[in-house]
Amino acid sequence: MPEKSAATHTPKVVTITRQSRSNRIVHALVASSTFGLIVTGLGQMPFYSRYKIADIPGLTWLGSYEITLWLHYLFAFVLMGAVTYHILYHALRREFAILPKRGDFKHSLQVIGAMVRGQKEPPSEKYLPEQRLAYAFIAFAIGLTIVTGLIKVYTNVPGWNVSDGMHFWSAQLHNLGFFLVFMGIIAHLAAFLFKPNRKLLGGMRHGQVEAHYTLERHAHWKEGVQKARSALAGQTPPESAAPKPPEEETPKGDRPCEESAAR
Ligand code: HEM
Ligand code: HEM
Repeated sequence: MPEKSAATHTPKVVTITRQSRSNRIVHALVASSTFGLIVTGLGQMPFYSRYKIADIPGLTWLGSYEITLWLHYLFAFVLMGAVTYHILYHALRREFAILPKRGDFKHSLQVIGAMVRGQKEPPSEKYLPEQRLAYAFIAFAIGLTIVTGLIKVYTNVPGWNVSDGMHFWSAQLHNLGFFLVFMGIIAHLAAFLFKPNRKLLGGMRHGQVEAHYTLERHAHWKEGVQKARSALAGQTPPESAAPKPPEEETPKGDRPCEESAAR
């Protein structure tokens, strides 16, 4: 049956590594601990008892103040560990590609505008300008919950007294942090409703994104462009097996990847 398998040869998609294992683990730990903090934080409000969710068999623990509080502490510990590692790791390696840059707000509007209209986007670095802004927003919100959360832990220790003002403001700002984190996550996930952004999902799952995608959208990411070019040059597939440049996704008049990569 060798003829048959040659005829059904599927085009090979050439990929490059975008997200290291370390980044993926940190993202997974931050995402899962934040999710846990939201669920257990709501338990202390006490959301689940009030709305009878804690009456559902298997979910009664959500109505226990003690259980949700200790789980909240556990998730807080995981989150703070991941955040500390993340900051030290990138500071020591001097990797600051995700920090916002001057003009990011204006450029985000241009990128999002082009994406919504289905036009060609201006080339980006490793991260799109709106990703850098999203990072700053989520980092600020998480930072706020950590600082105010630590103060709330302190106020919870019997015998350690804090002023009424401190009590009041740590609670208000912790709730504000919760609200901002929640809105940030909704916006973050909503970004994947747009088809071009879905190409990034693989990067957070297994680390890889398409080489063509990198050349087209992240033409100002030097390391990525180099990796993509070598990966595409190194592959010698038969004519029929060559990856098809996504011309149909590119508006008329725009040559695909080679053109943007050269900029
Ligand atoms: C199932 C849920 C999630 C999925 C599928 C997801 C997926 C992704 C992807 C694909 C990226 C882009 C990475 C790249 O540019 O290569 C990303 C980045 C990021 N994620 Fe998530 N994520 C999720 C949940 C979360 C949560 C809960 C948080 C924080 C609380 C979070 C925080 C971030 C941050 C700060 C970035 C960098 C900025 C950005 O790209 O917007 N993610 N995520
Ligand atoms: C994404 C991160 C976080 C979210 C979304 C979150 C959310 C919440 C929510 C919704 C509450 C209930 C507020 C209320 O009863 O009015 C709460 C309470 C609390 N959180 Fe967090 N939290 C986060 C991180 C943290 C961290 C990092 C710590 C500790 C370092 C912490 C410590 C506490 C404490 C001590 C309480 C009060 C428990 C009580 O005495 O009733 N939280 N959190």
